[in-house]
Amino acid sequence: PDYHAEGYGHFMRKEIHDQPAAVERTLRGRLDERFGTAHLGGLNLTPRESREFKRVKILGCGSAHYAGQIGAQMIEELARVPADSEPASEFRYRNPLIDPETLYVAVSQSGETYDTLATVQEIQRKGGRVLGVVNAVGSSIARQCDGGIYLHAGPEISVTSTKAFTVTAVDFALLALHLARVRDLSPADGQRLVRGLLALPERISDILQLEDRIADLAKHYSNFQNVMFIGRVRGCPVAREGALKLKEVSYLHAEAYPASELKHGPLALISPETPTVAIVPNDELFDKNLTTLGEIKARGGKVLAIAHQELPSHLVDDTIIVPQGEPELDPILLGIPLQMLAYHTAVLLGHDVDHPRNLAKSVTVE
Ligand code: G6P
Repeated sequence: PDYHAEGYGHFMRKEIHDQPAAVERTLRGRLDERFGTAHLGGLNLTPRESREFKRVKILGCGSAHYAGQIGAQMIEELARVPADSEPASEFRYRNPLIDPETLYVAVSQSGETYDTLATVQEIQRKGGRVLGVVNAVGSSIARQCDGGIYLHAGPEISVTSTKAFTVTAVDFALLALHLARVRDLSPADGQRLVRGLLALPERISDILQLEDRIADLAKHYSNFQNVMFIGRVRGCPVAREGALKLKEVSYLHAEAYPASELKHGPLALISPETPTVAIVPNDELFDKNLTTLGEIKARGGKVLAIAHQELPSHLVDDTIIVPQGEPELDPILLGIPLQMLAYHTAVLLGHDVDHPRNLAKSVTVE
């Protein structure tokens, strides 16, 4: 047992359980219930500037990139500004067009990832403006950026990211809300989202109560060599991060795919030997997701669903039910069971959870 992990056994597990408190810290003082908006003092953007840029481009590596994909969807959906997330490691080498009307956002837990830092410098060299979404106060990326948001997630020790990922997604919800309210979002919708954000810590605590059940499921799913993760739209980055967690700590091969694309190729991999973890929230794509589950079951594939309710028993083998919140914020909650699934799978397989082979907490070299 690792005594520094305060009875949790591992830092990864301790950090998973720290999430309600970490989310509370990141929200503190930043929400305005009366006007349904978010105050982010470090952005250094006037309301006029917040209204004027035409696109948002988010850049980060690993989990930071996937949290950025959740963020891009939130920004596009709420603020109605085109937004996307790209790996910083790719962006910096492809001579990207830097556009003065784009708001660039660099995401990093450590604030020291070299690919992300070099990306910020390259954008600034070409006249772009970059905000940071960073956990480590005073880190290289935080200092290099032209403003930004600190996560206040507290130190993250485990190599694989859990609470920083969740808190990054929460901070993107704050940024999306802020941008949306200086653009077109109504006060009522703003208030609805503020209430949804304030309810997150308690909802995360509820999900953490499912740990024994998830540990039991891990006993079964750790027997497979390959696991498919699928989700549609908001569920897509959740599936990608879930697969990354499993790869990093359990060394099982996990592949994430948009559920909509399964039939265009990866369905060939589905068999009784390759189970699927499916993200199936109660959203406008629910019926489409059930159709996909039917296609998997027809090939004898096992399905573990992360859902808001029990699903038809002929379509799933197991379901983890998470509390339903505001649909725009649901990706934040849907990913948490997958962290616990990866953790317990790795523990069962006897791996060094906090120090996975071949990986480093922050990659500060080329
Ligand atoms: C490393 C870690 C990942 C992390 C990525 C980005 O590759 O192993 O877990 O997501 O770096 O780290 P950052 O500190 O920039 O968020």
